[in-house]
Amino acid sequence: MRTRFTDLVGCKLPLQLAALGGVGTEELAQAVAAAGGLGMLPMGLGLPSHPAGTLGMGFLLPYLPTFEGIAERTRGARVVEFFWGEPVAAGVAAGHEAGALVSWQVGSASEAALAEQAGCDFVVIQGIEAGGHVRGAGPLDELLRNTLANVSIPVVAAGGIGTPKRVRELIDAGADAVRIGTRFLGAREAGVHPEYLAALIARTAGDTVLTDYFDDDGDWPATVRVVRTSLEGARSAGNRSTMPAASGSDRPGVMPWYAGLSIDHVHRVQSAAEIVAELTALLD
Ligand SMILES: Cc1cc2nc3c(=O)[nH]c(=O)nc-3n(C[C@H](O)[C@H](O)[C@H](O)COP(=O)(O)O)c2cc1C
Repeated sequence: MRTRFTDLVGCKLPLQLAALGGVGTEELAQAVAAAGGLGMLPMGLGLPSHPAGTLGMGFLLPYLPTFEGIAERTRGARVVEFFWGEPVAAGVAAGHEAGALVSWQVGSASEAALAEQAGCDFVVIQGIEAGGHVRGAGPLDELLRNTLANVSIPVVAAGGIGTPKRVRELIDAGADAVRIGTRFLGAREAGVHPEYLAALIARTAGDTVLTDYFDDDGDWPATVRVVRTSLEGARSAGNRSTMPAASGSDRPGVMPWYAGLSIDHVHRVQSAAEIVAELTALLD
């Protein structure tokens, strides 16, 4: 299926893997790219020397003291993306200097307009249904509608997307692509701790909570959506780090288990290629 997103980015499918800090892997990004989506690497991972398809890199502003050096770190990436914080022209310029397209994940239509003004090539609008850090100021459908009315650049919809029907619905509502996080935590290629993975399979949306607890001891005050039991574990251990329980973590039960409302649709471990095929099955 062709959309403004596929035409701009050059991938086959209107689907973006979310940058998944701490648990995203090169294997996962490569598998999504090979399956025809836009594979995203979280900051901290380098670009593979042999990309299997279209790849981008995501940067979290609270961990990015300056935009200097972005161009060197991202050379060869098709997309450079930023999250958290108001979109600014300096970030966009740094990504463009690398020869990449630049996007910003935002949480409101007014922030999306700022992304366009800052020179972004496309924008990701995140709804409150999302897992991980939640900037979304309300339900995705409403934010998407307002964003499409506010900007003319392509718009990617994110937050709680877990089924082919929902993907179709959002594309029909005008989204140029969908961005998926939690569903890919159930991919064989993801670097999620087995205890966290078991919870993703067993738990439902009602077991997730929004909390301000995980703030990196004050360094990154923000709202996140996690599985409730992980919040209880972290509280009892006094752990406020934002680092999720990755495959090598020693104490997974006291770390955040980020999950969106799309946790309802993580039923088993699958390959990333299978998840991509399933989610895009109703697109033509
Ligand atoms: C485990 C996890 C880690 C995340 N890390 C990042 C990150 O490093 N950068 C980023 O831009 N977004 C991150 N997000 C948020 C996603 O970009 C996206 O908004 C979210 O996954 C969409 O909702 P969904 O999980 O229901 O698909 C993360 C989400 C999860 C679940």
